[in-house]
Amino acid sequence: MENQFKLATNLNLVDQITVKWQAPSNIALVKYWGKHGMQLPANPSISFTLDACRTITTVKATKGDHGFTISYDGVPKPDFAPKIEAYFKRILDYCPWIAQYHFDIDTHNTFPHSSGIASSASSMAVLSACVTDMESQFTGTDMDFHKASFLARLGSGSACRSLQGQAVVWGKHDEVTGSSDLFGVDKSDYLHPTFQQYHDTILLVDKGEKVVSSTVGHELMNGHAFAKARFSQAHENLSQLKQALKDGDVETFIKITESEALTLHAMMMTSHPYFILMKPKTLSIIEEIWAFRKETGVPVCFTLDAGANVHMLYPHENKEAVDELINSKLAQYCQNGHYICDQIGTGAKKC
Ligand code: DP6
Repeated sequence: MENQFKLATNLNLVDQITVKWQAPSNIALVKYWGKHGMQLPANPSISFTLDACRTITTVKATKGDHGFTISYDGVPKPDFAPKIEAYFKRILDYCPWIAQYHFDIDTHNTFPHSSGIASSASSMAVLSACVTDMESQFTGTDMDFHKASFLARLGSGSACRSLQGQAVVWGKHDEVTGSSDLFGVDKSDYLHPTFQQYHDTILLVDKGEKVVSSTVGHELMNGHAFAKARFSQAHENLSQLKQALKDGDVETFIKITESEALTLHAMMMTSHPYFILMKPKTLSIIEEIWAFRKETGVPVCFTLDAGANVHMLYPHENKEAVDELINSKLAQYCQNGHYICDQIGTGAKKC
């Protein structure tokens, strides 16, 4: 299966090439939590692609000894190097030409570095878009977004859902045509018009570094008492969510999305060692959202990543009502009153 991404054609290598791409972050609705082998997911997941939270990266490749430099807005960032070095090692089998190049990588995030928003999805997605674009120029073929997603997965699992499409499924699922553990597939066609303009306002409860890395968290699903039930539940939730997205069924969407968020955190609380990534303010926000929804009928719901920040998901037509809720009640729970207004986007783009 992986062999489909190995190069079969001849390459027309050049002395120097520069490409620039941008790729967004994504927010999972059915969560990826647990992996095996070489970055293979324990269960299928689905996400909305975001728009405003993006990484923009320029890569200059110069023929010569393999190596790289990495900078953020032109300032060298040696602390980013180990992840990139590991990434290059992992993709070498699929892009052997990289051994003949030195790469100068400069990157920029549209969201603050210290926002507690994981940049690994957008940064690994954009780097993979750059590598795949170069390769397509060497082979004289069209950009292969599945290969870009495949490479991104080797950098960070969730990154493979940030390449193409408003909604992306990653992981084999019986009812999702073309789904694969190896790369994300564009499932924008699942989206009823109600979901095509969904908003995601990210309430920044805690901007600190993650206490437990995702990689460690995924590992704790090995031998987890509830792992088997959780993985089959994800399949079931994806089936139901697929139908809800197609029908514009916001009620079912809310039920599955919130349950998935709480289940993700329940897995963390019941692993060994156990840990809690929610903060008291995370819970206060959840309670405010529930009270507001009950009182007004506005279909706003929440989801969580592996952290304390709260993603508020809601239809475009409810933006004004949700803005009012944020200003009057929720901003006070955010660190320095900060939150990020984002919405559903379409994926990576060449700059
Ligand atoms: C909770 O993709 O960050 O955001 O593959 O180890 O890089 P690695 O993990 P990562 O895990 C993300 C987990 C999550 C849920 C999700 O995005 O599906």
